[in-house]
Amino acid sequence: MLVNMKDLLKKAQEGSYAVGSFSIANMEMILGVIKAAEEMKSPIILQIAEVRLNHSPLKIIGPTMLAAAKNAAVPVAVHLDHGTTLGCIKEALELGFTSVMFDGSHLPFEENVKITKEVVALAKKYGAATEAEIGCVGGSEDGSVDIAMRCTSPSQAKEFYEKTGVDALAIAIGNAHGFYKDAPELRFDILEAVADTVPVPLVLHGGTGIEPEDFIKCHQKGIRKINIATATFASCEGKVREGYEKGEIKGYYDLHQKEISGAYENAKKHIEIFWSQNKANL
Ligand code: 13P
Repeated sequence: MLVNMKDLLKKAQEGSYAVGSFSIANMEMILGVIKAAEEMKSPIILQIAEVRLNHSPLKIIGPTMLAAAKNAAVPVAVHLDHGTTLGCIKEALELGFTSVMFDGSHLPFEENVKITKEVVALAKKYGAATEAEIGCVGGSEDGSVDIAMRCTSPSQAKEFYEKTGVDALAIAIGNAHGFYKDAPELRFDILEAVADTVPVPLVLHGGTGIEPEDFIKCHQKGIRKINIATATFASCEGKVREGYEKGEIKGYYDLHQKEISGAYENAKKHIEIFWSQNKANL
């Protein structure tokens, strides 16, 4: 069933677990992620970043995500990840996305506050939730720019939350998008300090490559939404490559099935680590 992201994360906050927010690019990935969530009886978030819409047009992928969510046996929120333009955010809201992110992390603080406030007001009209980012997660969603990581200042996070009223706040604690060059050393001290002062659910971007024990520490200390993108794409690619190597792909629908299983296995693995299994009752 399609749900508001706020409700999913509120429940996660009460139960001290995190909800996986899985980036998808096509129907096969959507099917794989939903299959894992249904099997694990877990709530999930389906997301796509604005920068990816040149591959998967919003007008086509958006309604597909929403239809999959509505038909799922578990709660699914549909989220626009890393929205950068008000036009795209509005289009997602018009389609019925139940959550949107405005990413102004690279902007001066006051400008990030100003635009985030506009997005919060806009999303409210549609009954949708909002996410914003403070500090700067390293890398970039599609790897096109290598943004330097800047850890979140806990006092700035508090001020940002109070000024904007966002529903979920993405923070930077040593995490980065894409594959990590060196093993990430997450700043749990910063996470604790932010969680102490900011009452809304916190979001961890750059989930690919973070060790299971670090994920567990993250949700024990206040992270409620964890974004996974690169790991899903790599899992799908890996399954397809292996399928060809083993001679298992004999036609298009074998390829289609391999992609679904790549997304499924990756989502299932993460749902277990995030402790969201058997949490489908909202
Ligand atoms: P990864 O590609 O590192 O999993 O990051 C995903 C993400 O944060 C999307 O917003």
